[in-house]
Amino acid sequence: MKINLANIKKAQKLLNKRECVAIPTETVYGIAGNAYSDIACKKIFQLKKRPRYNPLIVHYYDLKTLIKDCELNKNFFKLYRKFSPGPITFVLNLKKKSNISKLVTNNKNSIAVRFPKHPVIRKLLQNLDYPLAAPSANISSKVSAVSSAEVKEDFGKKIKFVLDGGKSNIGLESTIIDLRKKPKILRLGGLNISNIKKILKKKIKVNLNPTRISSPGQLKLHYSPGLPIRLNVKKIKDNEAFLLIKKTKKLKKNYFFLSKKGNLQEAAKNLYSTLRKIKKKKFSSIAVAKIPDIGLGKTINDRLKRASKY
Ligand code: TXA
Ligand code: MG
Repeated sequence: MKINLANIKKAQKLLNKRECVAIPTETVYGIAGNAYSDIACKKIFQLKKRPRYNPLIVHYYDLKTLIKDCELNKNFFKLYRKFSPGPITFVLNLKKKSNISKLVTNNKNSIAVRFPKHPVIRKLLQNLDYPLAAPSANISSKVSAVSSAEVKEDFGKKIKFVLDGGKSNIGLESTIIDLRKKPKILRLGGLNISNIKKILKKKIKVNLNPTRISSPGQLKLHYSPGLPIRLNVKKIKDNEAFLLIKKTKKLKKNYFFLSKKGNLQEAAKNLYSTLRKIKKKKFSSIAVAKIPDIGLGKTINDRLKRASKY
């Protein structure tokens, strides 16, 4: 994709004035603001109607800028070298001297950080002298946006500028791993856990539903299209949309396919926009046919399961 430098400059100007702008990433779009500014971070929470206790992910260009804000360790370096920039978020200890806004971390001493891969956001980050706090660009508890049109659908004129970067390539949020002690996965995401295991060469704890919520991507209702969802369905009801991983011979108006041939990457990329499309068509609910629980299929199932708690 060709980078439009005038648009990058426009985003940069607004961010320098502590305004929020929507940004493209390879996972999903984000609502970004200067992570060192309380004013900017407060606006992010207001725009998203996000509860204050839910901390934000901070996006960095490179290690040089990261080192000012958090303590790095061996496991971090192993994973960073292999997977960054890319769809992985690291939870680390915050440095006492860091300038990160207390709103970002909910006043705690841990911070979630990532290095997005999308060339547009990378170019923007390179031009800034602060990192960007950016939660997914959707109203809290709803489906994330994967295109600039979807961001505009959710925020309208409330967002000053949407930096366009085309459709997000991965379509699911980043995988979150807590590296402060023994590595622990907090959210399934765009990077498969099996890849992480191969690099760390050990078992990794997965804690997606703790009693005390440390990562509200773990909250029960999340990623909701605003319609009831039934999972592993074989037979659909009247006025239900049917969501399938793979194209069937039968083509009906209420059938929606995530991928032509059942490719999980393609399905991930299409998941959120398909849910949005169904919502617009006035079905009363969504029935989902079984999706293989392997690789990215695990993340897709995680999102649908949480969305089904409607
Ligand atoms: O792919 C992504 O990660 C996207 C793009 C825009 O980068 N961002 C994203 O942000 O999904 P958000 O805010 O929708 O989800 C961030 C998750 C939340 O579940 C939050 O609770 C968790 O990260 N989180 C943030 N800081 C944390 C921390 N210090 N410890 C544990 N979890 C944290
Ligand atoms: Mg989110």
